[in-house]
Amino acid sequence: MKYSEKVMDHFTNPRNVGEIEDADGVGVVGNAKCGDIMKMYLKIDENDVITDCKFKTFGCGAAIATSSMATELVKGHTIEEALKLTNSVVVEALDGLPPVKVHCSVLAEEAIKTAVADYYQKIGRPVDFEIEKAHDDE
Ligand code: FES
Repeated sequence: MKYSEKVMDHFTNPRNVGEIEDADGVGVVGNAKCGDIMKMYLKIDENDVITDCKFKTFGCGAAIATSSMATELVKGHTIEEALKLTNSVVVEALDGLPPVKVHCSVLAEEAIKTAVADYYQKIGRPVDFEIEKAHDDE
């Protein structure tokens, strides 16, 4: 199996790993296929901008690399933009993933959306978007 340089970089040196104690939204998702788990923390300001984003993944290298890239892609952006972030965009930003590893990238997308849904629930905003489940992929 061959991984791109970017995947290797984000796997060996993942960005935004950790927890945000006073996070505005938290999303915990699991991949039913492999049992891997990801927790995503978002800090959101009054203009719906994601000012900080951290994650923790108990999972494979591809899941770590995609979560790392996904946090980089949503940080500093609005919720609206973050909700448009699909796993294919993340995979593209990493110069691709081996086909058998693509399902791992869905975890990051799902975790971000779940964290936004958590935030919406907290502030009483209706959750008006769908969350694609990792195990529905493929
Ligand atoms: Fe589980 Fe990659 S093998 S997320």
